[in-house]
Amino acid sequence: MPTSLLQSNLPGLELIHRGKVRDVYALSNDRLLIVATDRLSAFDVVLPNPIPGKGEMLTQISNFWFAQTAHLVPNHLLDVPLAEVLPAGTDLALYEKRAVVARRLKPVPVEAIARGYLIGSGWKDYQATGSLCGITLPAGLQQAQQLPAPIFTPSTKAAVGDHDENVSYDAVVAVVGSELAGKVRDATLEIYRWAAAYAAERGIIIADTKFEFGTDADGKLYVMDEMLTPDSSRFWPADQYRVGISPPSYDKQFVRDYLETQDWNKQAPGPVIPDNVIAATAAKYAEALQRLAGIKLD
Ligand SMILES: Nc1ncnc2c1ncn2[C@@H]1O[C@H](COP(=O)(O)OP(=O)(O)O)[C@@H](O)[C@H]1O
Ligand SMILES: [Mg+2]
Repeated sequence: MPTSLLQSNLPGLELIHRGKVRDVYALSNDRLLIVATDRLSAFDVVLPNPIPGKGEMLTQISNFWFAQTAHLVPNHLLDVPLAEVLPAGTDLALYEKRAVVARRLKPVPVEAIARGYLIGSGWKDYQATGSLCGITLPAGLQQAQQLPAPIFTPSTKAAVGDHDENVSYDAVVAVVGSELAGKVRDATLEIYRWAAAYAAERGIIIADTKFEFGTDADGKLYVMDEMLTPDSSRFWPADQYRVGISPPSYDKQFVRDYLETQDWNKQAPGPVIPDNVIAATAAKYAEALQRLAGIKLD
């Protein structure tokens, strides 16, 4: 059985951040303990009920991709046993599959998004302007159409409750400088291309995905946070893909679709999600874990 955890509680450790999904503790000046809870957010609002096991699945999916792509881009994971860092008396079983020890990095203040297909806010911006993040695209593209080549479409990282906003590459250069901006763009596209090819062999299209990066004291760049999870990516079953529609997906679209049927203004607090939608969403995460990482849950 998966464990269920809406909020972590690790007395004695310094909690420095409670994000939409992760609780982040400082272990030292250069190490973090990051716990993925079972919180579910949609439209940037954390919903009241957990998806049991979600944090475990997210962590395992991320750990899989971090390991697979370490030869391309270094990542934040440190090989430190959890038992060494959890406070004495902690229920190890509750945390072992959902927590990681990571390098404590300085976040690059941008959401590094790679898109191979035109969907979501990319499709919206393209319809309005014919371009996306300052990149002019060919005319006449349809919803969900594959782009001529994957593109880097950064967005600003919004505070809890606000929505991220697509920005141009030049805007990223203005904030972090051209050297770091170039490294982030190249790393984003490199991981995306590798992962998209990997997933394609398993019948899954990675339509788009978001990475976060950070730098260490020497300015070295690492990919951090999570990687290629259903929370950070749009995964489409290739056999159901069609241009011109929004394809069914492995990601939160399922919950979003439910929420769209509700009379809700997309401000906190969000509506309680019914049990059948919770169970179906958990099954989607498990399916992504199995099809991509080859990890089967009991
Ligand atoms: N290695 C790291 N060093 C510093 N910060 C990190 C690292 N990995 C993840 N983070 C940060 O920890 C937080 C994780 O919480 P999460 O719930 O994912 O937040 P959010 O609500 O911003 O998505 C994010 O703010 C992320 O930028
Ligand atoms: Mg996050």
